[in-house]
Amino acid sequence: MKITVIGAGNVGATAALRIAEKQLAREVVLIDIVEGIPQGKALDMYESGPVALFDTKIKGSNDYSDSADSDIVLITAGLARKPGMSREDLLQKNASIIKEVTSQVMKYSKNPILIMVSNPLDVMTYVARQISGLPEERVIGMAGVLDTARFRSFIAEELHVSMQDINAFVLGGHGDSMVPVVKYTNVAGIPITELMPMEKINAIVERTKNGGIEIVNHLKTGSAFYAPAASAVEMIESIVRDRKRILPCTTCLKGQFGIKDVYCGAPVKLGRGGVEQIMEINLSEDELKALQQSAAIVEKNCRNLDTLLA
Ligand SMILES: NC(=O)c1ccc[n+]([C@@H]2O[C@H](COP(=O)([O-])OP(=O)(O)OC[C@H]3O[C@@H](n4cnc5c(N)ncnc54)[C@H](O)[C@@H]3O)[C@@H](O)[C@H]2O)c1
Repeated sequence: MKITVIGAGNVGATAALRIAEKQLAREVVLIDIVEGIPQGKALDMYESGPVALFDTKIKGSNDYSDSADSDIVLITAGLARKPGMSREDLLQKNASIIKEVTSQVMKYSKNPILIMVSNPLDVMTYVARQISGLPEERVIGMAGVLDTARFRSFIAEELHVSMQDINAFVLGGHGDSMVPVVKYTNVAGIPITELMPMEKINAIVERTKNGGIEIVNHLKTGSAFYAPAASAVEMIESIVRDRKRILPCTTCLKGQFGIKDVYCGAPVKLGRGGVEQIMEINLSEDELKALQQSAAIVEKNCRNLDTLLA
């Protein structure tokens, strides 16, 4: 396995190190537009190998030819939010970056799986798919795993139980319109509604929806990166080890949930082939409506990029 990470910033560098530490690849290449940053960070990470106990080669570069023949490319390049900004504020600028980055990646790798992180996530996944021409199942967005991790961590904190025992799904677009699905949320199989009053659940749902901005407001100079990097690497691990995990990921829906040809967060089976199945679970009328509204927002933002992508 060769894995390239584009963008040597907070998410990209953290993810590259996790990939090496988990030994998910023989070689990790870290690419950024800024000279010196990927080289310096990659060398620093590589030098941690003897104490962190990994042998993965890590190379930093500004040259896409170093990404040649990658099996997986994690794309984190672009601007991150600052206080007062929505993810949509990044749309035009990041779309141009993703267009450029994806074309460069495709010059050197024939059939990679692209995992997208840059925001606004669902739209950037669409941009990468359009530019790469890759099959839909090979262009996947990371958002649902992160939103679900936040939801799970808040529930664990409230109930004083292990995070490991919390099963949940946050679906829909990565933004204010995301849909935490209470019906499928349980603690070691016990429905969450039997463990917490509805007001508490609703408060956790709201905190989850605002999970990104909560961190932005603390950091002030950028957005979250530890949990986002861990979430992207969880997806990569399921693909590399062909674990066929069921994870909420951004994928192109093909009529599931009444949504057609729009990138949106849904439960998928992730394996060596990328998205191997989209699980169309039963949702309540309200949840289905919320998911469809979320997809409509993504679609509208995609249409705003028609000229850029023409
Ligand atoms: N999907 C999610 O859940 C999620 C979570 C966190 C962050 N994000 C998004 O991920 C992106 C990266 O976040 P970050 O915190 O790592 O930001 P960052 O500013 O720390 O890093 C971004 C990196 O991209 C590089 N870059 C910019 N233009 C480039 C180009 N044309 N080619 C190559 N590299 C380029 C920058 O030099 C920088 O090193 C942002 O868009 C952010 O909003 C998404």
